[in-house]
Amino acid sequence: MKIFLVEERRDFIFTIRQELKSDYDEVYSLVKASFATTTYSDGTEADYLNAERTKSTFIPELSFVATTETGRIVGQILLYKTNITSQTKLVESLVLSPICVHPEYFHQGIARKMIEHALQKAKTMGYTSVFLCGDPEIYRKLGFRPSYEFGVFHKNDSDAEWCMARELSTNSLSTISGVIDIV
Ligand SMILES: CC(C)(COP(=O)(O)OP(=O)(O)OC[C@H]1O[C@@H](n2cnc3c(N)ncnc32)[C@H](O)[C@@H]1OP(=O)(O)O)[C@@H](O)C(=O)NCCC(=O)NCCS
Repeated sequence: MKIFLVEERRDFIFTIRQELKSDYDEVYSLVKASFATTTYSDGTEADYLNAERTKSTFIPELSFVATTETGRIVGQILLYKTNITSQTKLVESLVLSPICVHPEYFHQGIARKMIEHALQKAKTMGYTSVFLCGDPEIYRKLGFRPSYEFGVFHKNDSDAEWCMARELSTNSLSTISGVIDIV
């Protein structure tokens, strides 16, 4: 098993590693428990994740879990392939979805570390940008900005503050403008 990052916190140490097929059941329960704490959950996020793993857009190397010292899975993050549609071409990009942390471990920096780790790995694989739909209050703190600021507009709402993007290298979105269709 490849362990990528070991992070020491005041009370515990967590590890970020690639997700394995044998993790899927535990991750399913984690996603259910985590999203159940939100007001906007429709209860389908765990099934959505299962479905994403079956598609051609799935990249196993960009699906990670955070575990405690005992091996308990307390966080997950997935980046999968998407396209920005510009007037002349399709530009390959990534969607960050879903991400979650077990409620007992909120506000310990696990999501931040998982994002930094996953984006770094994506950059080494040649990807240049990541998009997501999410709460701007949270994701601005994590380096994302509304995608329209980069000239990439959500298909259904060109002013969407919640459709957010982050460049993986400086100005990597500066020569691209187009539309993105993500949930
Ligand atoms: C959102 C979530 C992944 C954050 O995980 P976390 O490990 O607690 O986040 P971190 O501790 O790494 O915090 C990262 C930053 O986000 C901020 N943040 C975290 N949760 C927040 C919240 N609910 N509201 C506002 N800001 C929040 C933190 O303050 C921190 O910023 P700071 O360092 O500038 O203070 C977690 O709350 C979760 O799993 N929620 C349920 C599932 C969910 O909503 N997933 C996201 C769907 S878009």
